[in-house]
Amino acid sequence: MRRRKKQKQDHPLIVQGNPKAVASEAFRTLRTNLQFTSPDREIKTILITSAAPGDGKSTVSSNLSAAWAQSGSRVLLLSCDLRRPVLHQIFGIRNTPGLTGYLTGRASLDAVIVPTSVPNLDFIPSGPVPPNPAELLQSKAMRQCFKDLRERYDVVICDGAPVIAVTDAAVVASQTDGTVLVVEAGETPKDVAAQAVQLLERAKANILGVVLNRVAGRGGSGYYYYHYHYYYSSSEAE
Ligand SMILES: Nc1ncnc2c1ncn2[C@@H]1O[C@H](COP(=O)(O)OP(=O)(O)OP(=O)(O)O)[C@@H](O)[C@H]1O
Ligand SMILES: [Mg+2]
Repeated sequence: MRRRKKQKQDHPLIVQGNPKAVASEAFRTLRTNLQFTSPDREIKTILITSAAPGDGKSTVSSNLSAAWAQSGSRVLLLSCDLRRPVLHQIFGIRNTPGLTGYLTGRASLDAVIVPTSVPNLDFIPSGPVPPNPAELLQSKAMRQCFKDLRERYDVVICDGAPVIAVTDAAVVASQTDGTVLVVEAGETPKDVAAQAVQLLERAKANILGVVLNRVAGRGGSGYYYYHYHYYYSSSEAE
C-alpha cells in the first residue's frame, strides 16, 4: 500500500493564515498563470484533480480559490469530490445541503452557496455522500449548475476526486473550461501521471498545466513549495 503523508499544517488555508509564506506566493503565481493561460478562450471553470488520493488537490483548490478571491475576483469553490469531502472542514462550514442536495433537487442553488471567511470567496460543499456520484456529476442538473455559476462568478474552482480510481473527475473535466493536474514531487510515478493525463484527454479535458506539490526547497522544511508547469499535448510539442 502506498504510504500516505498526513502532516499537520499550521493553517490549511495558508494564503489566509500566512500570506507572506513562500507557498502563498506560489498560489498567487499559480492564479496569475491561470488567468493568462489562454488569451483566446475564456477559462472560467477550472477542475483541480490528480492521479491518486492525497496528492494535494483540496489543499491546492482551496488555497488557489482564496488567492484568486484576494485579488478582487468573485470566486466560487465547488467541492466536486462527492466521495471524500474535506473542504467544508477547512472552511469550518457544514457539509449540508451541498452540491448533492442541489443535484438531487432538494435544495436551490442559492440555498447551497455559503460565504466563507475569505472576502469574495463563496463555497458549495459536497453535501451528503450519494450512492451514485458519477451519475449525479453527469446529470443535466450539474450542467445547469455550471451554467448558473458562470453567470454569477468570475471564476469557479472545482475540487475533484482522483482521476484514476473513479470516473468522477473525468466527468467533471469534460464540463469545465480547463483542468489542472496536481502531481506530488518525487511521489507520483511517471506512468501513473501519464495514465491520469490519458484518462483526462479521453474525456476531452482541456489540460491547462501541472502543479508540482511538495517540492523540496533548499534549507528549511522544504515542504510547502509549489511549481506550475504549462501543459503541452503531444501534438503541440512536435
Ligand atoms: N504542500 C503541502 N505541504 C504540506 N501539507 C500538504 C501539502 N499538500 C498537501 N498537504 C497535506 O496532505 C494531506 C492531503 O492533502 P489533500 O487533502 O489536499 O489531498 P487530496 O488530493 O485532496 O486528497 P483526496 O484524494 O483524499 O481528496 C492533507 O493533510 C494536507 O494538509
Ligand atoms: Mg481532496
